[in-house]
Amino acid sequence: MIKILPSVESFLARQHGLLIGGQWQPAASAATFATLNPATGTELAHVAEGDAADVDRAVAAAQAAFPAWAAVLPAQCERLLHRYADLIETHREELAQLESLDNGKPFNVAYNVEVNVALGQLRFYAGMPTRLKGETYPVSSPGYHVYTRREPLGVCGAITPWNYSTVMAMQKIGPALACGNTLVLKPAEQTPLTALRLGELALEAGIPPGVLNVVTGFGHTAGAALARHPHLRKIGFTGSTEVGRAIVRSSAENLAHVSLELGGKSALIIFDDADLDAAAETALWAIFANSGQNCVAGSRLFVQQTVYDNFLSTLVGRAQALRVGPGMQPDTDLGPLISQAQQRRVQGYIERGLDEGARLLTGGATAPSADGYFVPPTIFEHVADTATIAREEIFGPVLAVFPFSDEDEVIARANAVPFGLAAGVWTNQLARAHRVAAQLHAGVVWVNTYDWFDPAVPFGGRGASGHGRELGMQVAELYTELKGIWIKV
Ligand code: NAI
Ligand code: MG
Repeated sequence: MIKILPSVESFLARQHGLLIGGQWQPAASAATFATLNPATGTELAHVAEGDAADVDRAVAAAQAAFPAWAAVLPAQCERLLHRYADLIETHREELAQLESLDNGKPFNVAYNVEVNVALGQLRFYAGMPTRLKGETYPVSSPGYHVYTRREPLGVCGAITPWNYSTVMAMQKIGPALACGNTLVLKPAEQTPLTALRLGELALEAGIPPGVLNVVTGFGHTAGAALARHPHLRKIGFTGSTEVGRAIVRSSAENLAHVSLELGGKSALIIFDDADLDAAAETALWAIFANSGQNCVAGSRLFVQQTVYDNFLSTLVGRAQALRVGPGMQPDTDLGPLISQAQQRRVQGYIERGLDEGARLLTGGATAPSADGYFVPPTIFEHVADTATIAREEIFGPVLAVFPFSDEDEVIARANAVPFGLAAGVWTNQLARAHRVAAQLHAGVVWVNTYDWFDPAVPFGGRGASGHGRELGMQVAELYTELKGIWIKV
């Protein structure tokens, strides 16, 4: 096992409060809850259980901090955000250990992917304040000079999931703050720790009290109270489609801007002219990375009939070689699932797959256990397009493989789900790559690769996968308001 850093030991031993107006405070109710280590099922740390009263206080603190934060000069805002990034870089190993322990993912993934991606994002957002600009307009009435200004919205809310807690927090903290807003962050109850540490580091970086507030707590209490808060101007949500719908309903009352990054059932399509060895390695990680708890998981694999048998036997062989274990064990490929509830949910899907006539090639359900929520890499074939495991997001290491014969057929089948987050195409024919990529219903299409991100590139979904694009400069559209100004000259 990787040795736990003393700084992590002492962080875990603390009784964590809520971060409101720069102060660590207990919940108004004094309630606390435990976050578990999913590799063992044991308690990892205790945090405050915030609810509506605490959300009220946090929104008030964010409102009080807003005018001064919005007035910070762009270059100064950039300096503060870079200082924040420097601190995250300094504490990278510590954050990665916290994430690995709280979420279960392998430490090297937490370090090289999770924390590194969050850091890259923050560096990108740190460059935004001096680049947020309006435009001038050639209006057709004489004697006017017309221009727009981009102005911050005010108090924003963020509700984030547990699968990439550090990245998901930063994907909302970064643009909200860079655009001059203040924020109340409600991290997932399964993984509150890195959000608390990110709040602490923001203060240490000199970001003023009240600009970033962190309220730990449950979704139906703290999360729902935040989404419906009358003073909220925007809510950024990442999580399930069902909760996304509830967030939209709340916004009917407060009319907050809403952006939603929801689930997926992404198709990865392998044509017979592709580099099949590289495609198999990509298909393997497209589904099994983060134990399948990935919004862009390539959970439906379409393989052209002509190469189907060989491709599948390579894939199954590689899946069987993956090592399942605790995230803090150095040779682990797949950590546990986040919770016993998620383990049960995924096992339910595996049983459903068998009931509906699919053929299990490897993996399968294991007995639910209270001491570590592991599920082995699981692959099904002979899955009907209408089967539950072909249509619903499983969010676990479960792959459904389908043979196909031609391009039009596979495009139609790939598009036949309500989700529209991501898709992948493997082919060495240039024209086909462009043709297929253009026709797939998805917010992102990867060709001869999968699951790549960059802070400069917009990301988001369609349909049941949500709406709005995070990342990229156009994220400013989610976190600012345009004002048109008419000057009679
Ligand atoms: P969830 O959608 O319930 O949780 C995500 C966040 O929303 C958490 O912070 C939670 O506390 C909060 N939340 C829950 N109910 C809320 C409410 N009524 N109002 C406001 N906030 C609320 O997701 P859950 O239950 O953890 O996972 C269930 C399934 O959702 C997964 O199996 C997966 O299919 C999907 N999911 C998708 C994610 C993605 O990256 N797109 C991330 C997490 C879950
Ligand atoms: Mg946990």
